[in-house]
Amino acid sequence: MSHEQRASVPETPAAAASERAAAARREPAGRPPVWTVLELLRWTAQHFAERGIDTARLDAELLLADVLGCDRLRLYVDHDKPVAEDERARFRELVRARAGERVPVSILLGRREFWSLPLAVTRDVLTPRPETETLVAAALDALPDREAEWRVLDVGTGSGAIALAIAHERPKARVTATDVSPAALAVARGNAEALGLGLRVRFLEGALFAPVAAELAAGARFDAVVSNPPYVARRDAESLPPELRHEPALALFGGEDGSELLRALAAEVAGALAPGGFAAFELDPRQAEAMAAWLAAGGLAGATVHRDAAGRPRVVSARKA
Ligand SMILES: C[S@@+](CC[C@H](N)C(=O)[O-])C[C@H]1O[C@@H](n2cnc3c(N)ncnc32)[C@H](O)[C@@H]1O
Repeated sequence: MSHEQRASVPETPAAAASERAAAARREPAGRPPVWTVLELLRWTAQHFAERGIDTARLDAELLLADVLGCDRLRLYVDHDKPVAEDERARFRELVRARAGERVPVSILLGRREFWSLPLAVTRDVLTPRPETETLVAAALDALPDREAEWRVLDVGTGSGAIALAIAHERPKARVTATDVSPAALAVARGNAEALGLGLRVRFLEGALFAPVAAELAAGARFDAVVSNPPYVARRDAESLPPELRHEPALALFGGEDGSELLRALAAEVAGALAPGGFAAFELDPRQAEAMAAWLAAGGLAGATVHRDAAGRPRVVSARKA
């Protein structure tokens, strides 16, 4: 960061006024005003908030930290440092994309942390959500022995988030991760390699249980089957947050009412499980009750609802007798 003249970052009248006020506050006589880290953060957070972005301050911090090549804490240590013009230019582009086209921060940065693991994220995969950690936690509870050679299947792996978190926590587990999207599988494979998990997680292309159908027919079974399938109702597409337009439709929509894949998974999962095997599925809180019934109809017992950090029903699990 260098000490230099203020650039024309503000794009709204309110922001320009706030800039003038800030300049008047900061500018000692005879010295050109500068954009400091803190001023850029303040301006950007306000700009994002005016555009209806809920996580305005956090997004501003993540984008600026990325441009400056530091972590968020460093922004506060260096709050009064000037930001150089070339850094501001790069930041401006990110701010435009976030506020204008509503591109999610994860896609702008190309990464997202999940279960404390750094994952690469592109437009080919769903950005892993914090609530999906509820599914990982439920699966780990059901696979308590850290040293056992658990056989785990993750259907619809996307970035690989669930499969890789489980493989990371259960170092002897053999994890199979499937997806219909070859582009998503390429991202997941890259994440597995980057995390040093490439040898223990195998990635297979195909719909639902099709990629493992031959081995199931030959008698193979899994100790746990997990999935965060697409479960958004297509009829709700128009009312979704604009950020979701940047994520693959294949990862979002589960048919007209959202339950198409959940029903199919519930109907078929018993055939993939070993006796006593565990199955868990992420869903919309409004689908939890129905999923418990579909799992019972599919031959599983003991349906249990797991709540996310916000207290909403987020995962339904059950076991094969
Ligand atoms: C909601 S995303 C979940 C991604 C990742 N597991 C996560 O939790 O972040 C659903 C994933 O299922 C995949 N998918 C969609 N239809 C599928 C199907 N019929 N069989 C297998 N995967 C499917 C999508 O490509 C997408 O990657």
